[in-house]
Amino acid sequence: MIYPDELKLFKNLIIDTHAHYDDEKFDGIRDELLCSLNKNGVDKIVTCAVDGFSAEKTLALAEKYDFVYAAVGIHPGNLQSGTTVEEIRVLSSHEKCVAIGEIGLDYYWTSDNRKEQLKFFEDQIILANELDLPIIVHDRDAHADTLEILKHYKPQGVLHCFSGSTETAMGIIKLGMYIGVGGIVTFKNAKKLPEVIKAIPKDRLLLETDCPYLAPEPYRGKLCHSGYIALTAQKVAEILGTKRDEVLYQTRENAKNLFGF
Ligand code: NI
Repeated sequence: MIYPDELKLFKNLIIDTHAHYDDEKFDGIRDELLCSLNKNGVDKIVTCAVDGFSAEKTLALAEKYDFVYAAVGIHPGNLQSGTTVEEIRVLSSHEKCVAIGEIGLDYYWTSDNRKEQLKFFEDQIILANELDLPIIVHDRDAHADTLEILKHYKPQGVLHCFSGSTETAMGIIKLGMYIGVGGIVTFKNAKKLPEVIKAIPKDRLLLETDCPYLAPEPYRGKLCHSGYIALTAQKVAEILGTKRDEVLYQTRENAKNLFGF
């Protein structure tokens, strides 16, 4: 019911490097959806927490499903949750935890607490470096501060849902990090992103959804899930003048290299 026929793949080529399957929008359909994804082309999913409560739900999903992995962290929009970085350290010791995330800076939704955001971001990068885990970075309207901090700490990881310039992308890549591309690339107003995708080395590109949000065209505005990555890959293939499955294969290898699964 949930999985459109045209998106079914013959092989499991999709790795969704950024999802939020703990989100309440999946309540009632979560198990059926996850099982159908794994039968129809989705090889692996990294589902990202936004605070301690969400991390516990995220780890429970990773325990339940072989193909689901977890990232644990405190999102800049969830600092009021009261979750501490020490709590994230404890949660991150779970064997299915492959990254610290989603962490970062958001000056679009919450700009009145920049100092606090910077402190949480830096402390969680220090934790990730100590544990030798990659980070999953959220950067909304905070490109300069994000890049400066990443340059300073040199973590491994990915800048998720990339929305910056080619210049910023190249700065991220120079640090050895990856660029995460999601459904936005299929939107008509995505002007800069195709240029970024053409400019960056192909071994630095990851695909993601950020589901339940940001479903690609023609499903924009609907409940998003990892199967829609087939559409994002199709668009990236058009931009690069290659085939969809080549993009899926390359980005799957890239995700394996970063997350070590
Ligand atoms: Ni996210």
